Amino acid sequence: MEKNPKILVTGGGGLLAHALARLQNRDWDWLFFSHKDFDLLNGNQMAEQLDKHKPLVVINTAAYNLVDRCEVERDFSWAVNAQAPAELARLCALRQIRLVHYGTDYVFDGSKKAPYLETDAPAPLNHYAEGKLAGERAVLKADPAHLVLRTSWIFDWHPTQSKTFVHTILKAAREGRRLQATTDQVSVPTHASDLAGWTLALIQNQAHGLFHAVNDEGVSRFQWTQAILDESASLGLIPSIPSVEPVLSSHFNATMRRPDYTVLSNSALSRQLGRPLGSWRSGLRKMLATMK
Ligand SMILES: NC(=O)c1ccc[n+]([C@@H]2O[C@H](COP(=O)([O-])OP(=O)(O)OC[C@H]3O[C@@H](n4cnc5c(N)ncnc54)[C@H](OP(=O)(O)O)[C@@H]3O)[C@@H](O)[C@H]2O)c1
Repeated sequence: MEKNPKILVTGGGGLLAHALARLQNRDWDWLFFSHKDFDLLNGNQMAEQLDKHKPLVVINTAAYNLVDRCEVERDFSWAVNAQAPAELARLCALRQIRLVHYGTDYVFDGSKKAPYLETDAPAPLNHYAEGKLAGERAVLKADPAHLVLRTSWIFDWHPTQSKTFVHTILKAAREGRRLQATTDQVSVPTHASDLAGWTLALIQNQAHGLFHAVNDEGVSRFQWTQAILDESASLGLIPSIPSVEPVLSSHFNATMRRPDYTVLSNSALSRQLGRPLGSWRSGLRKMLATMK
């Protein structure tokens, strides 16, 4: 009997990797690697694992995502987010393995105030975004068969991660703490399960190049927070809906610059897949129902 082709997934403990595992797709043999067993900072180990397992596709979900820490740990974050994807892309290209990699909405500076297209020029405002942009560019340069999906505000249920934005809001509401959320930071919450499904469909379509991969509808942090509270209350996860104070980003005196408007247009991806990409609200309901 012919064996299934293999997909090797890095960052196996992360949010998106867990959503890929939950697809339970049987057309492929899925190999999930933890940080320890496939370390992006260890080129020899990566090469050995690729040669041992011979995947047809690698999905790189691993990254250093602590945006504020990237500003301080500049060399380390650059190594993980810029140099390591370049090396992985090179190793994959040498072996004719297709690489799928993820970028961020933060590559834009927010000045457009209309959904960003794949053809819009990036203008990163902080070190995290600069590193992620260098990483995605290196991946696309290494092999035209590679694929980069830029995404934003990923959320989903996860067996151990309990510090996502949704968890934080729920916890604060349950503990009766005061809630504040910004009205001037606008992006698109994206359900990791949806992103996982689009990733697999694109692999099966042999898609390559750059796509913006987000759910429908940009919202402010304030609107996103209210939606989390509304949906949680309707499922009985919180006893009542607390009030949320709308504030501006300047209220938090952050030293790091963040773009205020980073809504990505998902039209190109929607055309490629031949279907709408679905709303974050329906993803949120699924996540909360699972948590219940
Ligand atoms: N989350 C978002 O809102 C968001 C927004 C835009 C773009 N993205 C991008 O989407 C992709 C998936 O994000 P996610 O939310 O699933 O990330 P995540 O939950 O933070 O998972 C990232 C994983 O990468 C692992 N990792 C970190 N450094 C590594 C290294 N040197 N070698 C191997 N593994 C390493 C981490 O393991 P340890 O915990 O053991 O270190 C973690 O399991 C990433 O490229 C991210 O930059 C995410």
